[in-house]
Amino acid sequence: MPERRPFVRLPADVYPVNYGLCLKPDLIDFTFEGKLEAVVEVTQATNQIVMNCADIDIITASFAPQGGEELMATGFNYQNEDEKVTLSFPSALQKGAGTLKVDFVGELNDKMKGFYRSKYSNAAGESRYAAVTQFEATDARRAFPCWDEPAIKATFDITLIVPKDRVALSNMNVIERNPYLEDENLVEVKFATTPIMSTYLVAFVIGEYDFVEAQSSDGITVRVYTPVGKSEQGKFALEVATKTLPFYNDYFNVPYPLPKIDLIAIADFAAGAMENWGLVTYRETALLIDPKNSCSSSRQWVALVVGHELAHQWFGNLVTMEWWTHLWLNEGFASWIEYLCVDHCFPEYDIWTQFVSADYTRALDLDALDSSHPIEVNVGHPSEVDEIFDAISYSKGASVIRMLHDYTGDEDFRKGMNAYLLKFQHKNACTEDLWDCLEQASGKPIAEVMSSWTKQMGFPIIEVEEEQQGDDRIVKLSQKKFCASGPHSGEDCPSWMVPISICTSEDPTCSKLKVLLDRAETTITLSGVPTEQWIKINPGTVGFYRIQYSSSMLERLLPGVRNLSLQPVDRLGLQNDLFSLSRAGMISTVQVLTLMEAFVNEPNYTVWSDLSCNLGVLSSLLSHTDFHEDIQEFIRDLFTPIGLELGWDCKPGEGHLDALLRSLVLGKLGKAGHKPTLEEARRRFRDHVEGKQVLPADLRSPVYLTVLKHGDSATLEKMMELHKLADMQEERNRIERVLGAISAPDLIQKVLTFALSEEVRPQDTVLVIGGVADSSKQGRKAAWKFVKDNWEELYNRYQGGFLISRLIKLTVNGFAIDKMAAEIKSFFESHPAPSAERTVEQCCENILLNAAWLKRDADDISQYLLKRKGPPTG
Ligand code: BES
Ligand code: ZN
Repeated sequence: MPERRPFVRLPADVYPVNYGLCLKPDLIDFTFEGKLEAVVEVTQATNQIVMNCADIDIITASFAPQGGEELMATGFNYQNEDEKVTLSFPSALQKGAGTLKVDFVGELNDKMKGFYRSKYSNAAGESRYAAVTQFEATDARRAFPCWDEPAIKATFDITLIVPKDRVALSNMNVIERNPYLEDENLVEVKFATTPIMSTYLVAFVIGEYDFVEAQSSDGITVRVYTPVGKSEQGKFALEVATKTLPFYNDYFNVPYPLPKIDLIAIADFAAGAMENWGLVTYRETALLIDPKNSCSSSRQWVALVVGHELAHQWFGNLVTMEWWTHLWLNEGFASWIEYLCVDHCFPEYDIWTQFVSADYTRALDLDALDSSHPIEVNVGHPSEVDEIFDAISYSKGASVIRMLHDYTGDEDFRKGMNAYLLKFQHKNACTEDLWDCLEQASGKPIAEVMSSWTKQMGFPIIEVEEEQQGDDRIVKLSQKKFCASGPHSGEDCPSWMVPISICTSEDPTCSKLKVLLDRAETTITLSGVPTEQWIKINPGTVGFYRIQYSSSMLERLLPGVRNLSLQPVDRLGLQNDLFSLSRAGMISTVQVLTLMEAFVNEPNYTVWSDLSCNLGVLSSLLSHTDFHEDIQEFIRDLFTPIGLELGWDCKPGEGHLDALLRSLVLGKLGKAGHKPTLEEARRRFRDHVEGKQVLPADLRSPVYLTVLKHGDSATLEKMMELHKLADMQEERNRIERVLGAISAPDLIQKVLTFALSEEVRPQDTVLVIGGVADSSKQGRKAAWKFVKDNWEELYNRYQGGFLISRLIKLTVNGFAIDKMAAEIKSFFESHPAPSAERTVEQCCENILLNAAWLKRDADDISQYLLKRKGPPTG
């Protein structure tokens, strides 16, 4: 990594106790006026106060000691780089309590951070703006001068002065609504005092919304706010939220401390959702569900996001990380428990298997890079904080918590969690504090085991060998660091405390033995395992490691894929391990292709989904070769039987996972150019466009993708028209994601231009460009050129921020030529993006890995694909 910027936290000589904050946004001029009246405590006499402050102009500032005389500040010294301001006073402020008053003005910006404006159109089609906030991680300082660090907690009394006809919301319930004397069109809305809380969790929203409301069984008022006229679309999230609150209440055994919680859909929103205490903000697509027009995967996404953000109300809001180094505690934990919650609300989703494909394997892939980072990482400057909202904090964090939960068992885990929440409620905590509580509860060496996973980056590969002795199976296990470029061994090789469990074909659902591998290698004896049984390491795929079996063990295990005697999650895990081993050059890719063919009888959605994702990676890699068409044929052959079995229409008795599977398989077949699928997709698309027969929501993505992939300018035109007419953001996003599938170069350009047009919401531009880059070799090149050519506009649009990292990754990760890595590196040297530095490194590393993989295996893959077609006939 490049040099870290110097950084110091705020001095501790003055700290806030209560913020009295009054804000008056102007929704026409896009400015706001603010008055801060903060009760502060001076712990050491000083003649200056240092606070965070960015893009705000201070008009006046004063300090009055309790019962004493007001002293005007004589200087405001802005340190822009550090996002701080120093208020200087003519004489020293003495130790003790006092009131700090600051009058200031700011801009309602359009960067989706701080206090910003969000654009929407009303029923008459006119453009309007709402004023909304997004403060995490370090942007409360853009709305008011404050001590913007998670450990500096205070209470808040918020007042908003807003147009009479607008909804005004904040963390707490409204306690007063008074006429605003200076302007009869405005009202002054006062909110109840918050509990003591961190600045990044403060929120306010001023706009036009409808809502639906319910009471949770534990007496909390839950509202879901939607765009005007769309309150119906809030019902699903309302149902999830009212089920989720009592679930967490019970799981944590600590009540939700506020009287209400609002969930609100914000039109322009950078993240997916934000857990502001009592006022959770969401992208429209993470909250709104239309019974007819939303697809199954959207429902599932809404349930997960609601589950995630509500978990933060305890884990994050009530107990907050001491510093951003411990961000993973917040995000890793919430990313784990959202699955527990959805499993409770929707057992039919089989959501834990999906966890393995969505989070666990994603984390393993990223963490195998030399440019990964430990879960716990020192961060200082805001750009470094932005950078760690990544798959390590979220997905690896969630995966190691899942492993830990499995290691302690649910009962001890809950006991420890409850102790942690009670001990640290309304305070801050570090990773170690959680380990202490879990250690107390379980009597197991939690800190020692878990530190090996959170303090060092990467994870092990467990090598397994076996020997039969009579009825006993002797198993030798050893660990090495797994790297995407092959395993790492030698003197300086790190090692982990690895909880390992083993099952046999006698009972594939139950571990026969559990051990803690706390050294480089160990040998264990499984008694009563006759030769004909296979043994499987890591049943349930909960341990955060990859496995390399000896070839004889693997041979015994593989039939378990075809005959389905291995559990779905283990079929998925085995396939994913082998795929990753092939990318690392430890086995041949041909071996993985052979394995993939054993999945023809696979019934499970998630297993297919993971396999399909890896085939996508391979197909993208082979787009650099002249036998790309052969891998398409492989894909068609593999997916045809399941496609035929599923058909196009939903059958009676089918559920959520059938809908997901059909959508996946048809999309895959269509993209790979399967003729019958293409014809049917075209037919259904025509009927849809002509209004003869509306496509069911679950079929739209695969149909749109298929017709575009093999479509012309008329197809693109129609699709853009559908985009314009779409009433739901979900439908617009659905189209935006697939537009890039179009093949003709001039049409690709048209799609790229569209990405930056007014038609696409700023947060969704990355979807469109990413779609182009992902679709073909030409697309990838065109997307990268487009990003370079429009760099300034794109960078400025997101002001750094994590969307820029996402954009870079989506655009360049698929290249497989050495010189591209060099080109990308040099581009970002001359166009620095501080919060994306690590992402750039990771992409360059991935490109080099792709290139090496291609050089190593391309010939063999090509041979294999040729051979399976058989000798040419005729
Ligand atoms: N705390 C985050 C929101 C956030 C993300 C703030 C990035 C600042 C930067 C929130 O809890 C979150 O994690 N949201 C996720 C969705 C979640 C279901 C994984 C997101 O926005 O992607
Ligand atoms: Zn989160």
